[in-house]
Amino acid sequence: MKIAILPGDGIGPEIIAQARRVLDVLAADGLAFETEEAPLGGAGYDAYGHPYPEFTQKLAREADAILLGAVGGPAYDTLDRPLRPERGLLAIRKDLNLFANLRPAILYPELANASTLKPEVVSGLDIMIVRELTGDIYFGQPRGIRVNEAGEREGFNTMLYSESEIRRIAHVAFGIAQKRNKKLCSVDKANVLECTEFWKEIFIDVAREYPDVELSHMYVDNAAMQLVRNPKQFDVMVTGNIFGDILSDEASMLTGSIGMLPSASLDANNKGLYEPSHGSAPDIAGKDIANPLATILSAAMMLRYTFNLEAEAQRIENAVKTVLKQGFRTADIFEEGCQKVSCSGMGDAVVAALKA
Ligand code: NAD
Ligand code: IPM
Ligand code: MN
Repeated sequence: MKIAILPGDGIGPEIIAQARRVLDVLAADGLAFETEEAPLGGAGYDAYGHPYPEFTQKLAREADAILLGAVGGPAYDTLDRPLRPERGLLAIRKDLNLFANLRPAILYPELANASTLKPEVVSGLDIMIVRELTGDIYFGQPRGIRVNEAGEREGFNTMLYSESEIRRIAHVAFGIAQKRNKKLCSVDKANVLECTEFWKEIFIDVAREYPDVELSHMYVDNAAMQLVRNPKQFDVMVTGNIFGDILSDEASMLTGSIGMLPSASLDANNKGLYEPSHGSAPDIAGKDIANPLATILSAAMMLRYTFNLEAEAQRIENAVKTVLKQGFRTADIFEEGCQKVSCSGMGDAVVAALKA
């Protein structure tokens, strides 16, 4: 099992260090991991002058799975766009064809009060957001900033999905819905955007192959509202790259904090890149206060989806449940009566729970 580890920028190295400790415990108990580190994002730019350096590309291509912290930071925001950290992330997703991004929003019962929503609105929440990750306005051409015929500057991007791109993410989403509550909600803006009207048409067509799954459609503006009004009406949501980016951040607050939301980005053969859904959090970087649980839970997803190690994945998830029950909380999920811990302190607690 070859794992490429890409700590990235900001809090990336801090949260990855805790996830590594978790993997080390499993390795000591007999799992044969081979790990190697490489820089991505700003770290890649600093080391090799590129956010997705060749060294990292080679390692990522050879690995079975990739564990990533996060990329980006203010120091890099003025670089030419192709050299920015975010481009490195988009490049690795595209290079490895990681088109299916799974972002599970699960509320651990102990965190019902950590959410800004009322506990009864979020208790028992378990949503899977399936986000298409290698198409849409993120990659569509043409794009850029130009001077128009009237001599005024204008910025432009292209929202674009090919039929095959929609079909393959539809099959992933229907497959996941089949294994869950057999309810799939496809989120679009078909009332305005042709690209997503086409998305909807293809989903309706693919649905004929999954008669046991109930497909519904919702406009993205309504979906954003429904997610905070009554999130438990959803089971599996599927949407394009940009809507999925936004809705998954929104859904993270239902679980208490964005520091709780893991993700898996998969290709057609379950090779995957695993990362928390949040960013490099420059505002708290270097302070050892970030929540490492989204990254630790991403490592659990890696064991489940790429390595088919369901029991080991659950062992990690159970350790996370244990530390929450024990009352350990990083600052982002802290509440009165709990014990506030640092990022590494949370790592200590998870490691202890794993060994118990
Ligand atoms: P962010 O997710 O980094 O931070 C948003 C807020 O959430 C901040 O207040 C931050 O402190 C907090 N936060 C995030 N993760 C946390 C954690 N684990 N524990 C506690 N608090 C946490 O988003 P942003 O501020 O919009 O972006 C910062 C940088 O990260 C930008 O350069 C952006 O491009 C990049 N980014 C990268 C990724 C990625 O690598 N996948 C994702 C999103 C943003
Ligand atoms: C995410 C991030 C990225 C995205 C950025 C940093 C390119 O926000 O992983 O959610 O928009 O996909
Ligand atoms: Mn995002």
